Amino acid sequence: MSRTVPLRSFNLRRSVLSVPAINLRALEKAHSLDGDAVILDLEDSVAPEKKAEARENLRRFFAWPPLEGKERIIRINSLSSEFGEADLDLVKDVLPDAVLLPKVDEPQDVMAAGDLLAEADAPEELRIWAMIETPRGVLNVGAIAEAGRTPGSRLDCLVVGLNDLRKETGVLPQPGRSYLVPWLMQVILAVKAYGLDALDSVFNDFKDSEGFDAECGQGRAMGFTGKMLIHPSQIAAANRHFGPSAEEIREAEAIISAFADPEAEGLNVINAGGRMIERLHLVQAEALVHKARLISARKPA
Ligand code: COA
Ligand code: MG
Repeated sequence: MSRTVPLRSFNLRRSVLSVPAINLRALEKAHSLDGDAVILDLEDSVAPEKKAEARENLRRFFAWPPLEGKERIIRINSLSSEFGEADLDLVKDVLPDAVLLPKVDEPQDVMAAGDLLAEADAPEELRIWAMIETPRGVLNVGAIAEAGRTPGSRLDCLVVGLNDLRKETGVLPQPGRSYLVPWLMQVILAVKAYGLDALDSVFNDFKDSEGFDAECGQGRAMGFTGKMLIHPSQIAAANRHFGPSAEEIREAEAIISAFADPEAEGLNVINAGGRMIERLHLVQAEALVHKARLISARKPA
C-alpha cells in the first residue's frame, strides 16, 4: 500500500543561497545556479541608504522569468524597523514563495506578520520563514515552531543565523561548533515536533571547502533539511550532503520492497537479512525515495 507523502515537506531545500538584493549581477546569476532556492536579502547585506534601490532590483527580478521549480524567498528587515513596512509592501506586490523574518524572538513576531499578510489578502501559498538568531529566539524556539500549527500562521521553515547569535552571546567561532550544538539541536527538536523544515546557518569562509564540507556533514547528521549559503561555490557540496546518497537510496528501496512482499502483510516488524525493520522505517524510506525522485527530475540550471 503506498502512502500519500505530504507535499509541503518536500520542497527541495538542500542548498538555499542568499543573494544580496542590492547586487543586480548576483540576482541575474541566480538563474544559472543549481541551488534549490534563493533568499533575496533586503536585510543585513544591504546598507540602510541602499534599501530602496534593493527593493527596485527585486521588482525587476520578479518581472524576469521565474527560477524553474525553485522557491524565491525575500528576507525583509524587521517589521519594527523603519524599513519593514516598505519591504512588506514589496512582498505583497511581487508575491514570493515566502517571506523570511529576521531576528524572530517569540511566536507573536510570526503571528503579527501573518496578520499583516492576511489583511492584505495575500494568497495562502505565501509562507513565512523565521530566522532563529537571537538568545530569545533560541529560548522560545519551541513556542515559535508551535505557532506553525496555528491556523493562518503560514510558518514553514526556520533558519539558524549563527553570525548574529555569536555576536549576541560571545560564543567564539570554533571548528565543530561544540558550544552551539545544544542550541542547534533545540531548533531541530522544535521543527520536528511541529513538522517544519530547518536550515543550518551560513558558513562565512567560502574559500574553505574542507571546513564547509565538515559543517555540512555535521548539519545533515543533526537533522537539518539543508543549509543557507552565501556563495555559489557552496552549492554543489550542500546538494551532495543534504541529498540522499546512492547507498541510502538503495537501502530505502530495499525496505520498500521488503514491506511490499505479500508475506509482510499485516506485520509491523520484519526481519530483513538479520536486521529488524519496522513500518516507521517504511515511512522514512518512502520519503527518501520521493526526495531522490524530485532531485533527479530537477533540470540542471
Ligand atoms: N549569489 C549569486 N551570485 C554570487 C553570490 C551570491 N550570493 N556571491 C557571489 N556571486 C557571484 C559573483 O557575482 C561572481 O559572478 P561573476 O564572476 O559571474 O561576475 C561569482 O559569483 C564569483 O564571486 P566572487 O568574486 O568569488 O565573490 P564576490 O567578491 O563577488 O562576493 C561576497 C563575495 C561574500 C560579497 C558575496 O558572495 C555575497 O554577497 N554573498 C552573500 C552575502 C549575503 O547574502 N549575506 C547575508 C546573509 S548572511
Ligand atoms: Mg542575521
